[in-house]
Amino acid sequence: MGKVHQEILPRRANNSNLADYGQAVTYFKWEDVERQFSWYETGKVNMAYEAVDRHVEEGRGGKTALIYSDPVREESYSFADLKEKSNRFGNVLRKYGIGKGDRVFLFMPRQPDLYFSLLGILKIGAVVGPLFEAFMETAVKDRLEDSGAVALVTTPELLKRVKREELPDLRHIFLVGGYSDPEKGLISYDLESASASVELEPEWLGLEDGLIMHYTSGSTGKPKGVYHVQRAMIQHYYTGRVVLDLRDDDIYWCTADPGWVTGTSYGIFAPWLNGITNVVRGGRFSPRDWYSTIERCRVTVWYSAPTAFRMLMGAGNESLKGVDLSSLRHVLSVGEPLNPEVIRWGDNVLGQRIHDTWWMTETGGQLICNYPGMDIKLGSMGQPLPGITAAILDDQGNELPPYSMGNLAIKTPWPSMMDRIWNNPAKYEEYFRIPGWYISGDSAYMDDEGYFWFLGRVDDCINSSGEMIGPFEVESKLVEHPAVAEAGVIGIPDALRGEIVKAFISLREGYLPSDALKDEIAAFVKSGLSAHAAPREIEFKDKLPKTRSGKIMRRVLKAWELHQPAGDLSTIED
Ligand code: WTA
Repeated sequence: MGKVHQEILPRRANNSNLADYGQAVTYFKWEDVERQFSWYETGKVNMAYEAVDRHVEEGRGGKTALIYSDPVREESYSFADLKEKSNRFGNVLRKYGIGKGDRVFLFMPRQPDLYFSLLGILKIGAVVGPLFEAFMETAVKDRLEDSGAVALVTTPELLKRVKREELPDLRHIFLVGGYSDPEKGLISYDLESASASVELEPEWLGLEDGLIMHYTSGSTGKPKGVYHVQRAMIQHYYTGRVVLDLRDDDIYWCTADPGWVTGTSYGIFAPWLNGITNVVRGGRFSPRDWYSTIERCRVTVWYSAPTAFRMLMGAGNESLKGVDLSSLRHVLSVGEPLNPEVIRWGDNVLGQRIHDTWWMTETGGQLICNYPGMDIKLGSMGQPLPGITAAILDDQGNELPPYSMGNLAIKTPWPSMMDRIWNNPAKYEEYFRIPGWYISGDSAYMDDEGYFWFLGRVDDCINSSGEMIGPFEVESKLVEHPAVAEAGVIGIPDALRGEIVKAFISLREGYLPSDALKDEIAAFVKSGLSAHAAPREIEFKDKLPKTRSGKIMRRVLKAWELHQPAGDLSTIED
């Protein structure tokens, strides 16, 4: 310890702009960042210790760590509070025999207990799996089943969506705001935590031990469990400093839910590793509430997404009346392409240039960014961070010259690179099929100044409001509906959401197309999977285009939709 707050980069005293250090950055070494953690001296580490306990030990326990607000509550907690609450829950987990490497999932709305329990899980060396609260039965079951989760922290409301009889590995359920019922394996999170000890020795781990799992969508098969290890903290800490530009007195707000990777890497880890006050807002999106959160909490650094900015933009100036946003000094975006029009809106309305950042669940942390001090080219994702090498490759792995469209690839490794896809080594290998490179699945080009420009997904994944939707998962749900014979799902362009889900459906004998049936089918996906995966458009077809092996050709559906040529049809059935 002791070295924790040494500078990781040669920053100037009052100015943290990376770009000021053109030369110094050439000498960037990950090891210099690694040196910031206890691991460097002891060979042992624990994310929750580094993000919470360390600050208490170093005399910052009284500093506000979490400001939580929703339409009816506003609470704040210090680093010492977080330490105490996570220790309590860690002790509860240990009491039930849960420990290192066990998967413990979270399924609850954004609220303070979500953050306390997540830290408690990490303290005892278990691997945390946060689920988005909007997931319905099938989505929850698939993820708990695949991960072999032994415990779940949830609420009495959401428990209804957990099919326990089909989840033999799931031994314990901790209910936040509910009572114990030992016969049913239900344990009161509140009562047990209240009577547990506040003292806990964290489980000391190596950098390669498990940290977190996030499920993400692919174009085929069920969602993939992207598994990250403790080492990721090196990247979280580093990008917190050089991209989020966090400084001691900042009030930071990341709008993402911990059910998605942004809500953990940048809604929990990056700010708290850096000892920063973190704002969490519960409840639904509303322009007035969002603006007033910035105003009331005096938010200085704000990380959100293009969809949210577009919604604020759409809400117009009325919702801005009398709101003071002058506390903001740095604004960032992630998840989808950031339209130049939105950046211009940010310039005018927020008084800040919105900084785009590119990364993925699998990459665990930011890789290509517009960081402070850099010249922003409107519409570009920015440049690879110091320590990261990106390139555009053709399908054979050759590096392409500037302005050629190809596979966006990152040179391996970097600290927060995923460690595996749970239960699916073959899927993992696909990302690394070109030796020395991670293939992102995005297509992009680089300009002659080394800026990267996003073009689209190479696969069929749909990015709706920044949420990646796997067409296969939606198709599988659709064909469970009694009227649906076959279904093909694609993304179509949408001004607000980027893309929306469109389903092409052929009906079973005896069913007739109607608007009522469309609504019923959409509602079926909404209640079985999640609202964001439900098709916003449905079109009935007598027959869907298929390959001879029976695979629905989404490429052809897309061509129909966009009135474009369908390309090579040699594999199509009759
Ligand atoms: C897309 C979110 C354009 C991209 C952290 C990527 C982006 C996928 C950007 C990952 C950006 C993310 N510009 N597209 N700045 N950031 N994407 O796993 O297609 O939910 O592959 O991770 O979102 O989505 P994921």
